[in-house]
Amino acid sequence: MTLWKLVFSGPMGPLYAASETMMALENGPLSVSLFEREEDETEGWIELLYAAEPDAEAVRETAGLSNDYPAICEPLPEEDWVKLSQSGLPPVIAGRFALHGSHDAAPEGKIAILIEAGPAFGTGHHGTTRGCLIAFDALLDGGFEPDSVLDVGTGTGALAIAARLALPHAEILASDIDPDAVEESARNAEKNGAADIDFFAADGFDHVKLVAKTFDLVFANILARPLIDLAPAIGRALHDGSVAILSGLLESQADEVSAAYLALGLHIERQDPLEGWSTLVVRRI
Ligand SMILES: C[S@@+](CC[C@H](N)C(=O)[O-])C[C@H]1O[C@@H](n2cnc3c(N)ncnc32)[C@H](O)[C@@H]1O
Repeated sequence: MTLWKLVFSGPMGPLYAASETMMALENGPLSVSLFEREEDETEGWIELLYAAEPDAEAVRETAGLSNDYPAICEPLPEEDWVKLSQSGLPPVIAGRFALHGSHDAAPEGKIAILIEAGPAFGTGHHGTTRGCLIAFDALLDGGFEPDSVLDVGTGTGALAIAARLALPHAEILASDIDPDAVEESARNAEKNGAADIDFFAADGFDHVKLVAKTFDLVFANILARPLIDLAPAIGRALHDGSVAILSGLLESQADEVSAAYLALGLHIERQDPLEGWSTLVVRRI
């Protein structure tokens, strides 16, 4: 398969917004990566990978980038893609977890999660997935032992699989609005010996399995706007002592998202920045 790489470079501010917009697209690029220049962190570039040649100007418009951001669009030679998936995507370490492709192994002593690079979001290489896993790891270190877990917007299933491997006896539910992601996450779970996770398609909490049910832990890595819209439903899914790990919000959106949860009487326990994104740990006390 020939993949196409489209790169826009320039000041970081609009690139953060562009990366969020491109990630939120239903039929968007295969992957979205954001890079800061080492010598000047206010400048950087966004790399978008496509399975077919994209229309760079149409993408520019969708991403909301001006003509000041030069576009470079080129096919990625096959050997580069293989290299990218084999060495360009090294194992990702997040606390006790290590996400890796089949070309690699997890370092010894880590809980290994096998996720191949593919169309669903969540190989662990994004700051939001890693932020959720790091927050989860810290909660486990602090003695938190959830018996029931919900992963809303599961993507590759990485967070639900991490929960299953760390909490062998917990009930784990995982949903996604995208039925393809549900299929892929179920396949990934099987490869990781986590086939008993209950995966299903749902828009937010609009599913019979989620009616009047509460969880000890809810993951939701699904962008700022849906996190604000879903705040009442996520709040209802938490009983006293329950925790929600929220990500997909830019650092600049953390106050707005926090406000939606504070307004429900929930407590913001942590707010951790990572690569321009924020992860919130929200608790019902
Ligand atoms: C940023 S990805 C996160 C994937 C994975 N949980 C992770 O942390 O890597 C967001 C996922 O949420 C899903 N999603 C977006 N809106 C949703 C909604 N309203 N209800 C359920 N899933 C949704 C998307 O299809 C996508 O797979």
